Amino acid sequence: MQSPRTISVLKFMTLERHIMEGELQHPGATGEFSGLLHGLSLAAKLVWREVTKAGLVNILGTTERTNMSGDIVKKLDEFADETIFKAMDHGGHLCVMASEENEDLLHIPDHYQFGKYVLIYDPLDGSGNIDANVTVGTIFSVHKRVTQSGKGTLKDVLQPGYSQVAAGYILFGSSMMFVYCTGHGVHGFTLDPTVGEFLLSHENITIPSRGSIYSMNQGNFNRWSPEMQRYVQYLQQEDKATGRPYSLRYVGTLVADVHRTLLYGGIYCYPGDTKNPEGKLRLMYENNPLGFIVEHAGGAASDGSRRILDIAPTSLHQRTPLFIGSKEDVSLAQQFLAGKK
Ligand code: F6P
Ligand code: MN
Repeated sequence: MQSPRTISVLKFMTLERHIMEGELQHPGATGEFSGLLHGLSLAAKLVWREVTKAGLVNILGTTERTNMSGDIVKKLDEFADETIFKAMDHGGHLCVMASEENEDLLHIPDHYQFGKYVLIYDPLDGSGNIDANVTVGTIFSVHKRVTQSGKGTLKDVLQPGYSQVAAGYILFGSSMMFVYCTGHGVHGFTLDPTVGEFLLSHENITIPSRGSIYSMNQGNFNRWSPEMQRYVQYLQQEDKATGRPYSLRYVGTLVADVHRTLLYGGIYCYPGDTKNPEGKLRLMYENNPLGFIVEHAGGAASDGSRRILDIAPTSLHQRTPLFIGSKEDVSLAQQFLAGKK
């Protein structure tokens, strides 16, 4: 006789249910916020569908133009950019959007309702890695509007990172993951493609207070300040007591490098250099949302001297240096950069 099947996983927590249960904890919640995150998870699945087809269809390859930050725009960037906008423009949750791929604000079409939230996103981070089948991702940041009604404005978008009400990212890697935080822990969900649902796989992610991995484009070494160079040389020195030398890992997709740092600890750095004094990464689309996530997991994010989330933004595509990861590692980097070590 066959023995009855045992179900080893007793609790399935879908992303939808997690978001809804989170919102129910806030008295007076309208469900708008759940709707917004739901829209993002749908957009993520649509982008994933195309990303997994890369190489099979004629969607790979570069277009003629370069984006605001000088990167070559791949066709999948455009697809992701448009898909996220289209998935989010009609829900009535948003008053305005901004995307790394667009110079100006993205306005909600007049025939749709305007909501109380603002969405800022990097549609396809690390797109230079697509042709090599290496992890890419989408990064998002949500603020509450500061203007009262109607179309959202630049003022609604240019808010400091500490006022984000949610942030997250979606990783298109060996599996697809949705990681988000609304201020109550950082939670990761993995897509089960057979049922099309994100299932809770990483509950309450916390970053180790110190790690043993550093992540940076060391090819830029000769463009760095003497303080930065000294910091890296320190990480490479042999010292058992402090776990050195650190290992170097660099995917070249920010969101993938930060995801690994979140899970394993250590530090990701994109410092300013003689070519790009403010580094390469964008405050609104990359540094703020990832800073929010990493801080809520117990880590830190700095531009070398200031907390990333405290920086008052002055323009949509502004860049800042980024030092992000384990608290003790970021603090040590700051000390080196200040010449105190
Ligand atoms: O979005 C910018 C980006 O593609 C990041 O994802 C990545 O970490 C970085 O650029 C890589 O820059 P570099 O090629 O200078 O190391
Ligand atoms: Mn990016």
